[in-house]
Amino acid sequence: MTLPLAPNPAALDFLLTRRSRPPKTLRLPVPDAAALQPILTAALRVPDHGKLEPWRLLVLTRPALARLADLAEARARATGGDDERIAKGRGQFDQSHLAVVVISNPKPHDKVPQSEQVLSAGAVCLGLVNAALAAGWGAAWLTGWVAHDRGFAEPAFGLAPGETVAGIVHIGSEGAAPPERPRPDVAALTTWMEA
Ligand SMILES: Cc1cc2nc3c(=O)[nH]c(=O)nc-3n(C[C@H](O)[C@H](O)[C@H](O)COP(=O)(O)O)c2cc1C
Repeated sequence: MTLPLAPNPAALDFLLTRRSRPPKTLRLPVPDAAALQPILTAALRVPDHGKLEPWRLLVLTRPALARLADLAEARARATGGDDERIAKGRGQFDQSHLAVVVISNPKPHDKVPQSEQVLSAGAVCLGLVNAALAAGWGAAWLTGWVAHDRGFAEPAFGLAPGETVAGIVHIGSEGAAPPERPRPDVAALTTWMEA
């Protein structure tokens, strides 16, 4: 068979074996600004209908993460949250040394619905995880209540009205490799329409 493009078996093998790393296992060192640059560049190289760039990134370094952990605890307490909510809210900031918040920032457009723009932000999240993994780091895409509670997320991440958090991608050095998780049954999830 003649292929239209040169195959890239290394890239395909990467995609067939890639997996996130549990955030609890991510530790120092983390990429510095120079090492993060190509990862962010790869993440933003994403399908984007209408070239609207309906996303932006917020890099959280350790001091910001520590501040946000305290802010999450204060928000959980102020809204009557139990210990579990406090722990969940603090947790991902306390345990992280570097995170990138992918903010969905849809633009008004007559041909590109908002849903497509949010999907593009999701693609940025996966691109970020994959680029970090390809660069040799561990990474995990999280959300949780801190991503969705506007009373927290607006002041914490500087969200404007209409902006939402697509993901908080934590990046670090891998501790222990996680066991593989069961993967979807492709045949059961795929229908070929041949006529
Ligand atoms: C939008 C989104 C939000 C997620 N939020 C969380 C989360 O808050 N906590 C969590 O433990 N996992 C969360 N996950 C799942 C992790 O990213 C999980 O590690 C991932 O599904 C592993 O997939 P992989 O092994 O194919 O990389 C989320 C996944 C997505 C797509």
